[in-house]
Amino acid sequence: QSSEFCDAGTGFGDSGCVVSSKSASKLLIKGGTVVNAHHQEIADVYVEDGIIVAVKPNIKVGDDVTVLDATGKFVMPGGIDPHTHLAMEFMGTETIDDFFSGQAAALAGGTTMHIDFVIPVKGSLSKGFEAYKEKAKKSCMDYGFHMAITKWDENVSREMEIMVKEKGINSFKFFMAYKGALMINDELLLEGLKKCKSLGALAMVHAENGDAVFEGQKRMIELGITGPEGHALSRPPVLEGEATARAIRLASFVNTPLYVVHVMSIDAMEEIAKARKSGQRVIGEPVVSGLVLDDSGLWDPDFINAAKYVMSPPIRALGHDKALQAALSTGNLQLVGTDHCAFNSTQKAFGIDDFRKIPNGVNGIEERMHLVWDTMVESGQISVTDYVRITSTECARIFNMYPRKGAILAGSDADIIILNPNSSFQITARSHHSRSDTNVYEGRKGKGKVEVTIAGGKIVWENDELKAVPGSGKYIEMQPFSYLFNGIDKADAKYLSSLQAPVQRSKAAS
Ligand code: URP
Ligand code: ZN
Ligand code: ZN
Ligand code: ZN
Repeated sequence: QSSEFCDAGTGFGDSGCVVSSKSASKLLIKGGTVVNAHHQEIADVYVEDGIIVAVKPNIKVGDDVTVLDATGKFVMPGGIDPHTHLAMEFMGTETIDDFFSGQAAALAGGTTMHIDFVIPVKGSLSKGFEAYKEKAKKSCMDYGFHMAITKWDENVSREMEIMVKEKGINSFKFFMAYKGALMINDELLLEGLKKCKSLGALAMVHAENGDAVFEGQKRMIELGITGPEGHALSRPPVLEGEATARAIRLASFVNTPLYVVHVMSIDAMEEIAKARKSGQRVIGEPVVSGLVLDDSGLWDPDFINAAKYVMSPPIRALGHDKALQAALSTGNLQLVGTDHCAFNSTQKAFGIDDFRKIPNGVNGIEERMHLVWDTMVESGQISVTDYVRITSTECARIFNMYPRKGAILAGSDADIIILNPNSSFQITARSHHSRSDTNVYEGRKGKGKVEVTIAGGKIVWENDELKAVPGSGKYIEMQPFSYLFNGIDKADAKYLSSLQAPVQRSKAAS
């Protein structure tokens, strides 16, 4: 909140924001440990016009190049957040961070790209897409879109095809919860899975049993529980486990890959692990809140403090956090998102008399890289290469942007962070860059600090100073048929040939 932003609409050169008089488009990062998901080594990274040109030791450059010394630090691909909601209309209000404030916060925390969820307008995907393109005009970093599917008819089916073939969208989210609003039934989910498969688009699910959640909410209100704690009590892990299992089995029946967003419970995680063990292509995305928080905050007697923890699926009891961390470290879960969906105290207060009206969502876009480093790397649970994989590379692979994104390689986009493992971070609403007046991670401290963020080849975060430029972010089109679809046709052919004998037998019998 305290940061100074550059003036709207201007590029770097003319905005008065470039610290150095040297060429803003040529950068050399010297002497750091360059980390990719597959390998780490001490090397220099040379950047020109937003693209990484060379990665090797002892690169010599002229004095027109801005040089950053990264000795003793990690040079890594900028974070990619697969799950955000900027400027989303939801539960009678709109998320407090828009495409500028949310992305500025992201840059300050080492995230240089995110994928946001387009919500259709009155059921129209193309209207939703146009609305989000408009919202995103003020972007200060690169972004992509998923699309939510909230109803089903011929038009939706046709528009999904347009989104994939013409608009750069390669994933669709189905909400199995939020009854009466975004929720879809199994019939629609099945249609959606089939359509996704035919387009090579990844089906994503918000997995909670929405009918049972509705019943659970009634139960709580009847018992006189109206506070934020009622939110978690009304939608226990079993409902997340059930929907996760159902979605996984339907995806198996259709033989198409599935991505489960915001995995919050052991119950859901174990369904994913089991499916993966059986060979099914299922991706599980835990979010930072689920990895580092527990449900005790929901019991805070101060309503505003408690309400800031309200998100769906709920933040679970102590123990789920550690189990999700372990699943991430062993590869049962694959990448970390945030579900950044921030509301301020005034908005959270809509539900002061009834937890069902508290806008669902927590912050995290600025905090993810630090909290995952501290929780997973600093604690010794994962390697630095795995950190890069779960915060950046795997997201780029799943959504088919690798190696343009998610790598420090010659030819990749120059979205880079420099992290100092010996420095420390502290989180507070007073100093964060989100527009929210609260932070669900208030007071947290840890080891490891993103000291420099480079987005599109420009230094946008250095010395705790943000130089985010509205309009500098690009829309990244994502192509269908990611690696998750490789070989799906072979499995289909095998399935079809396995049906030959029953078909013959059935014919002979009739
Ligand atoms: O509580 C949440 N998760 N809000 C954002 C919408 C969603 O379900 O992802
Ligand atoms: Zn400025
Ligand atoms: Zn969701
Ligand atoms: Zn979400």
